Formats: sequence, C-alpha cells, structure tokens
Amino acid sequence: MKILHIAASPKSQDANAWWLAQRIIARLADGHVAVELTVRDLHATPVAHIDAEYADALAAPAEPEEQPSAGSSRALSEQLINEVEAADCLVIGTPMHNYTVPSSLKAWIDHVVRVRRTFSITPNGKVGLLRDRPVYVGVVAGGGLNGARARQPDFLRPYLKVALATIGLHDLRFFTMERLASGAQAVLAERERVMATLGPCDFFLKKIS
Ligand SMILES: Cc1cc2nc3c(=O)[nH]c(=O)nc-3n(C[C@H](O)[C@H](O)[C@H](O)COP(=O)(O)O)c2cc1C
Repeated sequence: MKILHIAASPKSQDANAWWLAQRIIARLADGHVAVELTVRDLHATPVAHIDAEYADALAAPAEPEEQPSAGSSRALSEQLINEVEAADCLVIGTPMHNYTVPSSLKAWIDHVVRVRRTFSITPNGKVGLLRDRPVYVGVVAGGGLNGARARQPDFLRPYLKVALATIGLHDLRFFTMERLASGAQAVLAERERVMATLGPCDFFLKKIS
C-alpha cells in the first residue's frame, strides 16, 4: 500500500498536524505488510508559487508543445501529480490558517489541479481525471472547528472538498484537533480524544480496498 503524506504546517515534524497525520498513517498501515510512505513536507521543501509560464499554459486553449524547463512550475506540477497518481491514498495534515488552508497547501493545490492533466472542462463543468482514492485529512486549529462553540467560519474543509473533487478525489474523511490555542492541557486532551476515537483499523482498510 502506497501512502502519500502531505504535510502543510510550518512546524513540519513538530506540528500538531504532523502528529495527527502520523496517527492516521499508523492506523492505515496497521495490518499491511508492505507500506510505502512518501512524505511531501511543504515546509522542508517548499512548493513555490506558480510561475508565469505555468499561468500562461493553464490559460491557453491547448497544451504548449515545448517541454517544461527544469525547475519550472510545469515540471514541478508533473512531479507532484505523479506522486498523487502513485498513491493508494493521501493523508493531508494541515493547520487552519485564517479560516482556510495554509498558503503552502494552496501552492501545492495550484500545481496539482491542472486543466487537461487532472481535470477536463466539459459543457457540464469540470470533470476530474484522476482515479478516486481515499483522502484522510487531519485539520488542527487554535480555535473551535465543530459545533456551537466554533465561533469562526470554516473555509478549509469546504474548499478542500471542492478543490480535490475537481481532480476526481471525492472520498475525503476529516479528523480534527481544535482549540489548541488554549494551552498544553488542551493539546493533551485533544491528543487523547483522537487516540480514543480514531476507530478500529479495519474501518480504514475497508476504505482503501
Ligand atoms: C498565520 C496563522 C493563522 C491562523 N489562523 C487560524 C484560524 O483562522 N483559525 C484557528 O482556529 N486557528 C488559526 N491559527 C492557529 C493554528 O491553526 C493553530 O496554532 C494550530 O494548532 C497550528 O497547528 P500546527 O502545530 O500543526 O502548525 C493560525 C495560526 C497561524 C500561524
């Protein structure tokens, strides 16, 4: 089983988002003899903002004939899409930044959601071209995310659903850790809650098969 971990926190391995993603990955890996994990740490190896050549290529009516130059957004886009295509499932660990995804994750999305490559434009709208596969998303936030005490808008989950559905990934499953800004006790309590509620591993295996 091949798992692609997308890590979107500036704190990389020290992040709560990393911890949550690791818990999910541990569950996914449980019972699998051969697990191949690819980590795309968006802060250890930042994905740059898209360049002009890429923006022009996406706005053009057809694909440019010339090959992308080394180090260009078009070349990186191909690499990032290949990583998604090779994976049986994705695990995204992300903090909420200003009610939505961090800019690092947005830069990754801009390289992966690509017309004529990962989606087509049809008379009925955009149609995803990638094979659907489970996407487990660990979302962490300083404030509330769920229920009546979530006194902030959440553009992260609805946005990610739409962006990934565009390329054919419709099977998103969210896990959250919230109110972490309340202090170390809050972080510990959320970690314990996650450990208790992640569920039996065969739930995850069902989603993969
Ligand atoms: C630039 C920035 C913006 C943030 N915006 C929000 C926000 O809109 N809502 C929220 O609940 N927390 C927000 N936070 C707090 C983080 O989501 C919180 O600290 C989280 O636990 C960080 O997770 P990490 O350890 O994985 O980086 C923000 C933090 C930063 C650095």
